[in-house]
Amino acid sequence: MSYVVIKDIVKSFNGAPVLDSLSLTVNRGEMATLLGPSGCGKTTLLRCVAGLTPPDRGLISIDGKDITGLAPRQREVGMVFQAYALFPNMTVYHNIAFGLKMKRLAGKEMENRVRNMIELVDLAGKEHSYPAELSGGQQQRVALARSLVLEPKVLLLDEPLNALDAKIRKNLQAELRRIQKGLNITMIMVTHDQEEAFGISDTVYIINKGRVEQAGGPGEVYAAPASRFVAEFIGNYNVMAPDEFRRLVRAENLAGGGSFAVRPEVIKILPAGAVETFKAGGNGKDGWYVEGKIDNLTVKGNCLCYRVKCGDLLINVDQLNDRELRRFDGETPVKLWIPREECISLN
Ligand SMILES: Nc1ncnc2c1ncn2[C@@H]1O[C@H](COP(=O)(O)OP(=O)(O)OP(=O)(O)O)[C@@H](O)[C@H]1O
Ligand SMILES: [Mg+2]
Repeated sequence: MSYVVIKDIVKSFNGAPVLDSLSLTVNRGEMATLLGPSGCGKTTLLRCVAGLTPPDRGLISIDGKDITGLAPRQREVGMVFQAYALFPNMTVYHNIAFGLKMKRLAGKEMENRVRNMIELVDLAGKEHSYPAELSGGQQQRVALARSLVLEPKVLLLDEPLNALDAKIRKNLQAELRRIQKGLNITMIMVTHDQEEAFGISDTVYIINKGRVEQAGGPGEVYAAPASRFVAEFIGNYNVMAPDEFRRLVRAENLAGGGSFAVRPEVIKILPAGAVETFKAGGNGKDGWYVEGKIDNLTVKGNCLCYRVKCGDLLINVDQLNDRELRRFDGETPVKLWIPREECISLN
């Protein structure tokens, strides 16, 4: 049974619809992420779940209990915001203990819970520091600990790692996932960052204009985007209109009425004069050779990201930055191999 049920939530602000009959469910102990463009309603949805914004219509339940009309503190839902909003005049220890004190917990039990949490988020030794004496990543861990110590049924996280630089962010992503799994806590996290969403979630919800456009495991959504919107949003897919794609591969009678999407990393890039060994009979696979010219090469760490001009189209091709592989630059004429089975026909 689904642990969190969000059903047909409608919310407008001043007559402008923000959530448009949005529904989704999350299983117990799952890490769910909401991914979508700015303004699509992600924060509004979390606020509805936390009880900070009342929906106009719809139902929200947790563990079978309807919480739609409950006050925030009756919901047992925690929320971590992008800005950590720690109490500046309290130490790490007291920031984390604050919520427990409000619940009138005291003495040894409170102390133990706070100490365990400090261990869990790896802040031992910093108990007596004030927020201003901590790094961004440490402050974010205090914010996380402060919510987790209350043992919420569901923890909502609104772009919790945004303010952090890339390396700390990566570490905290892994840590967040470890804590989430260790405590078997149900989390719903909003992020702008598709890599983050795909890296740490059990389920990804792609939100567009206040509705769920696609839901699924990260691998599934990445490999099989359900619409042009998803393909364009989740990465640098090559998305082409039907006639553009047919022109590119010179296959006029190709089935499918919608757009086509091809991932940059499934396309092979070869010298213009390369022998066509990939074709049926070569590796037995079906596909197309397409001629083009290098338009641009960007080296992104371990990836060579080419943009190749093929007729009037620009095609992205990613290749592992392998020293053994030939690099193409300038306006070198090249040949691309596009495997047919990797071309996704979109609705
Ligand atoms: N209290 C409010 N009053 C009026 N309009 C609001 C209010 N809160 C949100 N909105 C509007 O609702 C829309 C969705 O806002 P929301 O904050 O949910 O977007 P978001 O998906 O979280 O975007 P971002 O990724 O930029 O954080 C926006 O157009 C916003 O201006
Ligand atoms: Mg937001």
